[in-house]
Amino acid sequence: MNNFEYYIPTKVLFGKGQIARLGEAVSLYGTRALLVYGGGSIKRTGLYDKVLAQLKENNIPVFELSGVEPNPKIESVREGVRLCKENNVDIVLAVGGGSSIDCAKVVAAGACYDGDAWDLVIHPEKIKRALPLVTVLTLAATGSEMNGNAVISDMSKNDKFGTAGLALKPKVSILDPEYTYSVPKNQTAAGTADIMSHIFEVYFNRVPGTFIQARFAEGLLKTCIKYGKIAVNDPHNYEARANLMWASSLAINGILSYGAGVAWSAHPMEHELSAFYDITHGVGLAILTPNWMTYVLEHDKSTVDRFAEYGINVWGIREDLDKMEIAKQAIQKTRDFFTEIGIPSTLREVGIGEENLEIMAKKAASMGLENAYYPLDEKDVLAIYKASL
Ligand code: NZQ
Ligand code: ZN
Repeated sequence: MNNFEYYIPTKVLFGKGQIARLGEAVSLYGTRALLVYGGGSIKRTGLYDKVLAQLKENNIPVFELSGVEPNPKIESVREGVRLCKENNVDIVLAVGGGSSIDCAKVVAAGACYDGDAWDLVIHPEKIKRALPLVTVLTLAATGSEMNGNAVISDMSKNDKFGTAGLALKPKVSILDPEYTYSVPKNQTAAGTADIMSHIFEVYFNRVPGTFIQARFAEGLLKTCIKYGKIAVNDPHNYEARANLMWASSLAINGILSYGAGVAWSAHPMEHELSAFYDITHGVGLAILTPNWMTYVLEHDKSTVDRFAEYGINVWGIREDLDKMEIAKQAIQKTRDFFTEIGIPSTLREVGIGEENLEIMAKKAASMGLENAYYPLDEKDVLAIYKASL
């Protein structure tokens, strides 16, 4: 196991009715709030009114950045920064999915920065300070509610980049699974795939002696497989929504990666799909992941042990089979699971053809893929994209 520093400062208020503590949580950190939210789901569910009531009760004036897009755009961030600076905002409150939270994070940092907010996306080291951030999560997927990462796009350049900073970790996150009842089936499935991908990205590592991380990872994967299916078919199932929501936070808050870190594979490849075609992040991941797994197993036979472990411990495949057979079955089961929960399985189904694959492969390969579990160059990425067509 590698050395690591554990730092997960977010206070999580989990469960039914926790919204009643929002006003108190916000007033601990600020006096004038910017409320950041998406395209209107929080108004349809009534959450918006509850949030405003909480702020009013605590005498906190509120300014609003609404309409944050899925795959949030830098233009929204700039608008949020402007609102913060013009109105002396001292706390940012994100209510929504990962896109609203990510946008709010860079707004919070941009409000404390003199230059253009895009600098903070491409130069994470420039994030020195940020306004305090409180979140109310409405979609189990990205884990943004408990980590210091944010992913922002500039569609004019087909760029989608992740940034990160300790200052971006939320102070408080309210996780009420009931607020995910209204998430549509396709987003529930995509969110489940995203959570699973965050786990795969660290589960497939070569750091010796990371038994505890691997067993945690397998437990979280089993949780996603069991409850992802239930939540898709029975959206008001509290047990399923609660387990998925907590899995989303634990998958990427550091618990799995501390001591077992490795450069990620599927995410850099997916970010190019979203950057060029604005597709749903989790859908792109679900399409690429089984093809990435197949490619890795075929090109590096030494990976068979981990794939077989995955097959036995997560999918319950019989241990007495040949290891390679177990590994292949595990990959097939992964593919079948994504199909079963209704996610498209090819790039063509989401409107992606061959036209940009080469440039996308080149850009993805420049995102540190040489340090991944199985190092990937441009030609490898292109082959995985083609296999995913
Ligand atoms: O915009 P609204 O109207 O709120 O609708 C959203 C949006 O259309 C809807 N939605 C959210 N909660 C809902 C709901 N609809 C009904 N009921 C609810 N309770 O769902 C749609 C998608 O929302 P979005 O926030 O875009 O989804 P997600 O949470 O999957 O976030 C995706 C973004 O996060 C980035 C992705 O790349 C993508 O840009 N990621 C962020 C990460 C991080 N910060 O750590 C890590 C991830 O790997 C990921 O890259
Ligand atoms: Zn993700």
